[in-house]
Amino acid sequence: MNDKFYVTTPIYYINAVPHIGHAYSTIAADILARWHRLCGEDVFFLTGLDENSVKTVESAKKKGYDNIQAYADYMATRWRKVWNILNISYDDFIRTTQDRHKRNVHDFFKKLRESGEIYKGIYEGLYCEGCEGYLTEKDLTDGKCPFHYKEPKKLKEENYFFKLSNYQDQILEHIRDNPDFIQPEYRKNEVVNLLKEGLNDVSVSRPHLEWGIKVPWDEKQTFWVWFDALINYMLPRGYWPADIHIIAKDILRFHCIIWPGMLLATGYKLPEKIFAHGFLTVKGQKISKSLGNVIDPIYLADQYSADALRYFLIREKTLGQDGDFSERELQLKLNTELADTLGNFVHRVLTFIRNNFNGKVPKGETDYKIKSKLIECIENAEELLDEVKINQALDEIMLIARIGNEYFQKSEPWKTIKEKHQEAANCMYNCINLLESLCVSLYPFIPSTCENLSNQLNIEISDWSQSKKFNIEIGHSIEKPEILFEKVEVEKEVKEKLISIDDFKELDIRIGRIKKVEDIEKSDKLLKIKIDIGGEIKQSVAGLKETHNIVDLEGLKVPVLVNLEPSELMGVKSECMLLAADSDGKPVLLKPESDVEAGVKVK
Ligand code: MSP
Repeated sequence: MNDKFYVTTPIYYINAVPHIGHAYSTIAADILARWHRLCGEDVFFLTGLDENSVKTVESAKKKGYDNIQAYADYMATRWRKVWNILNISYDDFIRTTQDRHKRNVHDFFKKLRESGEIYKGIYEGLYCEGCEGYLTEKDLTDGKCPFHYKEPKKLKEENYFFKLSNYQDQILEHIRDNPDFIQPEYRKNEVVNLLKEGLNDVSVSRPHLEWGIKVPWDEKQTFWVWFDALINYMLPRGYWPADIHIIAKDILRFHCIIWPGMLLATGYKLPEKIFAHGFLTVKGQKISKSLGNVIDPIYLADQYSADALRYFLIREKTLGQDGDFSERELQLKLNTELADTLGNFVHRVLTFIRNNFNGKVPKGETDYKIKSKLIECIENAEELLDEVKINQALDEIMLIARIGNEYFQKSEPWKTIKEKHQEAANCMYNCINLLESLCVSLYPFIPSTCENLSNQLNIEISDWSQSKKFNIEIGHSIEKPEILFEKVEVEKEVKEKLISIDDFKELDIRIGRIKKVEDIEKSDKLLKIKIDIGGEIKQSVAGLKETHNIVDLEGLKVPVLVNLEPSELMGVKSECMLLAADSDGKPVLLKPESDVEAGVKVK
């Protein structure tokens, strides 16, 4: 029997489509799955969707769906599409609205109830719908959820509770006895501190929800979405316990406290390891729909290739810590590392063999110094992959391409080919073996590129050990070389633009009074607005139709940018702009603190 390896990603909420943060977790899990498969292990890689959230209902309604399941089905196709584009090799895709999952939840709950760990009680406290989690005052920053920047709801409701507080000591003991259970180390310390503060029992159901899995004997109660979601991991029973749950730091508590508590109470084994990575940020800010900085992985894959994106996301940041995403950095890494270092090495070796040795690997001698450097890199990478230090493993592997380029350069085969033919042959023999190693060891990271390379090398990628064997035989034919990565143009570095007070003074902002509002019938969003800016009337075309009623707008006093270059929108002239805050994509008009005359300057 081969060793088994069971890896999971979080199951994602379906109120939005995947962004590069979700892609990051999924790619990390995919790399581990592909690596363990190459090592001959019996791998199960599970990802999927967490569909029973109240957020599903809200976004279905916002998007005009009456049938929430139809919305969930539609979103599932969108998520799968992204994972297909990014070459995610999942073995199963769980959706928590599937019957197989509902059955698992019912079974799990039955066990928990039979163990005497469930009781009915009143929950009075805070709830963040963004997290779908119960919070306490001390979880908040400035009264808001630190992950969703929103004030939590105050709830008082009758729920079923799970006696989580009974498991505090057992969880602490487990963490102490299994030093790798929570990784990285600093996340483990966070969890230990939380546990030492003491645990409350946790509600596992909520009343009166229109969507979700109902408690079987009490149809008024719906399982709390986290209770149902965590049980998804039990889907492939034969593979349980999971060897690793990949998550990010935002969902540490659910995975490292509630989930172990649930498993201990039901007598199931605990997962071997929970690895919580950091957040990808954009200009230092969390990626989120409400901040409007979401980056679409489909766009990036389309623009630069899925492998360039996979490579960059993993290469760029230490799994564990936060790291900033920049498209410009992606372009730079693509050019310098994938096109120059890797692509160049592949191309120069294959072209040389084709042009000088008729496309056949020449008879050459192994350079043991090169071979031992290669083995060292691969063994380091293995160790690092075992420790889930994926980016460092990738560095080690890319070192092989650097070593190869240096060796090629130093050996100068283009000179020795004439008089010292054997030296050129030796060089090629060693280089082609380095290429085989790269082709196999990079496969978990950039699979399509390596498949393409394996075609050019005329080999099959079947076993990780190929990466350190110097397997390619003398006389082996190679195929026509093709470029692996085209270089891209690198954006100019954009320095954050600062404006002077004099620049600001050039903006003529005044308080305007909205006089008349007319519908622009051809448009779903735009209204034609006449504004009195102190004796003069100016016209603006503003995207307020979806959020404001015409009657409520008339008479309002708002700041208006008056000296705006006129333009036409839908054929209607617009010569000034109402100022509004952008709240989650919705315009919220600004108002003066107290009544001011129309025409007064804003400075
Ligand atoms: N549905 C829950 C998880 C249930 S698992 C039993 C959930 N879903 S989520 O859609 O909000 O996804 C959260 C996960 O997405 C994070 O834990 C992380 O894996 C990934 N990421 C979301 N944004 C991210 C970044 N900006 N950066 C890195 N990973 C991010 O929570």
